[in-house]
Amino acid sequence: MSSHPLVREKVTRLRDKETPPKIFRELVGEIATLLLYEATADMPTEPRTVDTPLAPYAGARLAERVGLIPVLRAGIGMVEAALELMPDAQVWHIGLFRDERTLRPIEYYNKLPSSATVQVCLVLDPMLATGGSATATVHILKRWGAKRIKYVGIIAAPEGVKTLTESHPDVPIHVAALDERLNDKGYIVPGLGDAGDRQFGTG
Ligand code: PRP
Ligand code: URA
Repeated sequence: MSSHPLVREKVTRLRDKETPPKIFRELVGEIATLLLYEATADMPTEPRTVDTPLAPYAGARLAERVGLIPVLRAGIGMVEAALELMPDAQVWHIGLFRDERTLRPIEYYNKLPSSATVQVCLVLDPMLATGGSATATVHILKRWGAKRIKYVGIIAAPEGVKTLTESHPDVPIHVAALDERLNDKGYIVPGLGDAGDRQFGTG
């Protein structure tokens, strides 16, 4: 959970039901940037020397290939921000939707190649509700051969954190806010409503 004042201010505006899709999308990107800054703090680097106009400089570059895994649809809103920070990252989309009755995730899109092409995967999905979608995504990535996986979201429910942590204790969870609970339809309370609908104006 992030206690950063900028994150808290932006998440407050994101939750506001009066926030229109354009501003909602901008806020998702801005919050993703701030969270990714924290989530990538332990990424290994290797030496890279460059010449400034005055002298050589012994600097650094990222040592690992990074994969961004946006979970369709809502995760799409976090990808641009992540690519701004890591322009060489690969983007692998995974499509899941929740069955309205069972709340279980249904996979409908996955074009991962047969073996992993990256060393660290960042799963991007704003909402960690029951945790079913995040747990299924991590399972898919592990089956693919991903070794290091992190989850980056915006709002989590305690139930989602518990489910993801119990199934995949090796996956760190980076979110802006941990909310109170789920309602009987599996929505996070107070939450922000349906993150996909609010980004894409489909509510
Ligand atoms: C939302 C969200 C997550 C999922 C979280 O997607 O983007 O993927 O719900 O819920 P869970 O933790 O209970 O699995 P949704 O199924 O609404 O699909 P959409 O993004 O296409 O609208
Ligand atoms: N998915 C959403 O978009 N919102 C919730 O509150 C729960 C799941």
